[in-house]
Amino acid sequence: MLPKSSFLRGFAFAGFAWAVVGTTRAETTFYQARIAPILDRHCVSCHGPEKQKAKLRLDSFEAVLRGAESGAIVKPGDARGSELFRRITLPASDDEVMPTDGKPLLSKDEIRNIELWIVGGASATKVVADFPGAPSLSRFKPAEPARAPDWRPRASEIAALEAKLHVRLIPRSQVPTDGLVLRTASSPGRCDDSALAALASVAPLIVEAELARTRVTDAGVVALAAWENLRAVDLTRTAVTSAGLAPLSRLRLLESLNLTDTAVDDTGVSALRTMPSLRRLWLHGTRVTPPAGEGG
Ligand code: HEC
Repeated sequence: MLPKSSFLRGFAFAGFAWAVVGTTRAETTFYQARIAPILDRHCVSCHGPEKQKAKLRLDSFEAVLRGAESGAIVKPGDARGSELFRRITLPASDDEVMPTDGKPLLSKDEIRNIELWIVGGASATKVVADFPGAPSLSRFKPAEPARAPDWRPRASEIAALEAKLHVRLIPRSQVPTDGLVLRTASSPGRCDDSALAALASVAPLIVEAELARTRVTDAGVVALAAWENLRAVDLTRTAVTSAGLAPLSRLRLLESLNLTDTAVDDTGVSALRTMPSLRRLWLHGTRVTPPAGEGG
């Protein structure tokens, strides 16, 4: 559990909203309204007019039902027995997962629409109203922006660094572009400035750095300031000082910074005022003067 937090007033909030547009005319078929857009977005670049990987095209109803070189990929009525469904539900690490090449996998709702369509007979004529249980897809909503480059092509390099530096680099979620979390909690005493320097090659993949109780100092913070995709940094009980914090103000995406039980004071915090995304700052046990009205 994090200790009592202190939120400094005056930091900017980055707020945004988008409109979700999702209207479907009653007469459009389920295939046209739901299935074709999913295949267009995720599959047609490799299975369409330009490329026909595995001699498979997925850019028309007829082509989908015709299947690939090796045969049918959709078995009407049987999702689990359909090669198309099997390929899109494999784990991200599986060589056979579709789409390939580290492209974002289908969302749960997209997969569910495909499943219902196959179970319902892979029909060309059924309409949206025939699938009351199908989750709606907000077709015009942009995909979640990537937080970091896909880590999967670097998996072996990441594993080697973990072994050498006694740290962990854990995917933040199942989305491979959600970035990695640097964990040191199992042996914080082994993580120091040189370990941070050694992580430079994978730094763009790291979105959170958990460095509490490590031997990181101001010199290590200079290295951290080049990790441009960082959203959260925990420096609880480290030797960082106010003098060392200024370089962190380069981190345009940093939202959360934990400085609990450090020697940081007001000068250090004022260096962070220009950070556009910073929303949470933990200063318990520091020498920073709390803003008026904030106890402790
Ligand atoms: C980046 C390129 C690429 C994308 C995008 C892609 N595929 Fe593929 N697909 C391939 C390649 C290459 C193969 C052949 C190798 C293999 O079978 O794994 C293949 C094979 C397949 C097969 C096996 C065909 C057979 O021989 O039985 C299916 C089914 C398939 N893809 C479905 C999909 C679906 C569905 C999507 C979208 C969700 C998709 N693919 C997106 C490259 C791609």
